[in-house]
Amino acid sequence: VDQTYIMVKPDGVQRGLVGEIISRFEKKGFKLTGLKLFQCSKELAEEHYKDLKGKSFFPKLIDYITSGPVVCMAWEGVGIVASARKLIGATDPLQAEPGTIRGDLAVQTGRNVVHGSDSPENGKREIALWFNEAELCQWNPAQASWLRE
Ligand code: GTP
Ligand code: MG
Repeated sequence: VDQTYIMVKPDGVQRGLVGEIISRFEKKGFKLTGLKLFQCSKELAEEHYKDLKGKSFFPKLIDYITSGPVVCMAWEGVGIVASARKLIGATDPLQAEPGTIRGDLAVQTGRNVVHGSDSPENGKREIALWFNEAELCQWNPAQASWLRE
């Protein structure tokens, strides 16, 4: 089963969108396995976005992600990585389709309210980066047999 790291960015927390964003994944039928409010260090933000090191916006991105608390989430489900990216929508919220999180709730790339892993490998990597093993729960949601035949 695939895992993805979803994070409500500081603007999403400040704007009171935490419940709304969690709700989108919860209603879809994915399984939450980790959840915390967290103020991250510059080092952690840089490690998380290491593939973007060297981009002109990188320093601004690190300032943004460390500017306030974020909500860290681990989610699990068949095909979840690509599906979560669809639920989140395009990086630029003005290009994101209505109905997606960014399409409905944001207007600018530098304030796009939520992160989602871009591959199953990065899903695993990012969950391990943001969570300790003890913070993750393996459990069997009661609705499982109503979600999949
Ligand atoms: P994440 O889910 O946050 O990883 O977004 P993404 O996968 O849709 O985009 P990408 O990984 O390419 O970029 C990571 C984040 O960097 C984006 O979500 C933006 O917050 C920020 N970012 C990307 N491109 C730009 C840019 O051109 N300008 C600014 N200010 N920020 C950018
Ligand atoms: Mg990305």
